[in-house]
Amino acid sequence: MSLTPIGEPRQKITTATIREKKSLHQPITCLTAYDYATARLVDEAGIDIALVGDSLAMTMLGYENTLSVTVDEMLHHVKAVRRGVKDALLIADMPYGSYQADPNEAVHNAARFVKEGGAEAVKMEGGEKRVDVIRRVIDAEIPVAGHIGLTPQSVNMMGGYKVQGKTLNAIEQLMRDAVALDRAGVACIYLEGIPREVATMITAEVEAPTIGIGAGPDCDGQVLVFHDLVNLTFGHPAKFVRRYGDAAALITQSVLAFKADVVSHQFPNDAESYHLPKETQAALETVLHRKQAMRR
Ligand code: KIV
Repeated sequence: MSLTPIGEPRQKITTATIREKKSLHQPITCLTAYDYATARLVDEAGIDIALVGDSLAMTMLGYENTLSVTVDEMLHHVKAVRRGVKDALLIADMPYGSYQADPNEAVHNAARFVKEGGAEAVKMEGGEKRVDVIRRVIDAEIPVAGHIGLTPQSVNMMGGYKVQGKTLNAIEQLMRDAVALDRAGVACIYLEGIPREVATMITAEVEAPTIGIGAGPDCDGQVLVFHDLVNLTFGHPAKFVRRYGDAAALITQSVLAFKADVVSHQFPNDAESYHLPKETQAALETVLHRKQAMRR
């Protein structure tokens, strides 16, 4: 099976496609998408995976971190992204608290993302300690993406957003986490905020494709947060972010130009206005003339 080059009409991307890409050493592309518009742009550009990340807590909803976003809030966005995505694999993030407490609840919540949201896989943070729940969700026929390293839902345990895997012990733990997820049968493993050298070792060790963010160039694929990519995140970007466009500048310029045109009566102009049909205009003028004549 040949994979269609980016930009050309292509096949539906599935979990099998991304595994095949790993085996063919073809880089996997992933971007977050949070609504219909970003979903269409990401999908139509030929990105392999549209991830409805819980980063939407900050980028879309203005929360301080990912901890407060709920299943219902996530679902609202997953449904919108579903309506915009045709070919990309649609992965939905399970938010904090929706899978840690009870495996039955985890299966129930994961199934909501599939049944109500139209997701094709769900993502959960954590390694070895999350394997039992991940197995249960996979047993319920729902593909799971793993996520290890700097896992934002553990921000309080990590004491901040810090690069992980910097000591030998930490490297060993990350390797155990990756291998445990791989053995559990995850569809892919997101590697976030770890040294390049560690990501390279994990990528060589596991069969599942690795998708890196702040994990160096040797992962099987790369993901960025859409809002980071186009400068809509209002802050100093992390070291691993590359800004490919400046949507903030474009939007600000457009908003200011609109404001100036309205204030100076330049918008809307006559060509941007609707007009009466000729006959109605003529009839209206006749009525107005008659009224004027009666007043005299
Ligand atoms: O929520 C998110 O956007 C993510 C990616 C950064 C991997 O989990």
